[in-house]
Amino acid sequence: MRNPIGKKVVDIKPSGIRKFFDIVLETEGAISLGVGEPDFDTPWHIRDEGIYSLEKGRTFYTSNSGLKELRTEISNYIQRTQGVSYDPIKEVFVTVGGSEAIDLALRAMVDEGDEVLIPQPSYVSYEPCAILADAVPVIIELKEENQFRLTAQEVLDKVTDKTKILVLPFPNNPTGAIMEKEDLEAIAKVVIEKDLYVISDEIYGELTYSGKHVSIVSLPGMKERTILINGFSKAYAMTGWRLGYACGPQAIMEQMVKIHQFAIMCAPTTSQYAAVEALRNGDDDVLMMKEQYNHRRRFLLSEFERIGLPCFEPYGAFYVFPCIKKFGMTSDEFCTRLLKEEKLAVVPGTAFGDCGEGYIRVSYAYSLENLKAAMERLERFISKL
Ligand SMILES: Cc1ncc(COP(=O)(O)O)c(C=O)c1O
Repeated sequence: MRNPIGKKVVDIKPSGIRKFFDIVLETEGAISLGVGEPDFDTPWHIRDEGIYSLEKGRTFYTSNSGLKELRTEISNYIQRTQGVSYDPIKEVFVTVGGSEAIDLALRAMVDEGDEVLIPQPSYVSYEPCAILADAVPVIIELKEENQFRLTAQEVLDKVTDKTKILVLPFPNNPTGAIMEKEDLEAIAKVVIEKDLYVISDEIYGELTYSGKHVSIVSLPGMKERTILINGFSKAYAMTGWRLGYACGPQAIMEQMVKIHQFAIMCAPTTSQYAAVEALRNGDDDVLMMKEQYNHRRRFLLSEFERIGLPCFEPYGAFYVFPCIKKFGMTSDEFCTRLLKEEKLAVVPGTAFGDCGEGYIRVSYAYSLENLKAAMERLERFISKL
């Protein structure tokens, strides 16, 4: 029989996050600080709107681009948070999570051989999606001495005449790093000078702890060069509803919608009704969750300091990224032993790119009680090393 599997797919490594979680499921009494998913339930008034839409019999496809009401709310949201105006019909469309938007943006924009700059450590999907779109991923290694921010020089160093896209993964998963306005201004200058496009993944944009998130689309000349990606999973604790969106120039949106129309048809209808409510009346819930995340973030950082685990202070998302180099183990060894000896699961930094070696990702999307128990285990583990 001939090989049924395409080579491009076989060569892609499965996510290093999942691998650990399969082990956790089989380990009795394990505590996991591994998953990047809010521990809160979706706020009730948002769930209610989903339920109500079902009661009303709204069980049909929506337009391929999503409910007009929702696209209008998305456009209003970006206007009020970033001061940027998007046409809800031509420049906004609703996807199955930020995940689909990342995939579509890459597929719609690259030709074979185009280079896509991907700063790492970063979310696991950019590199495989770039490969599946026949592009060439070019990795930029973010450095702890720059607080894992991306610098304009790092971009310049990797730009060639084949470079087309820069992925901007901030606030960052797994480091928690954010970009300040000045950092973005320097990057925007390079992007314009080198005629690049940006895919800005701002899924953690609501979760920043040192002032408001600034989007690169708010800088002069950048709206026309950027696909802004966001979604409901993180800010509104709606991971299972599978809803995200992309905003950008009409010409690019049209091509993205075309792929979406053939591959997906439309994002889940119930979720779209719930999301309208999230954007209209969810600000207080976001704030409440954010305050709790911040409290946990500070708790973890102070615990790391107390037990002697060096960690740069991250101001975004819900992850901390301590350095474990001093223990003379690889990230994978550290995490495997921690899980085996103390039944505590965290994710090796290498799951987010080779340059994550020497770090571990600890998620604080877990209750304080869980975090306290986990820190006891981590302290015991470290004291044995
Ligand atoms: C940085 C980042 N982008 C995108 C996603 C995808 O999220 P979703 O598809 O649930 O919107 C995640 C999920 O963990 C993420 O961490």
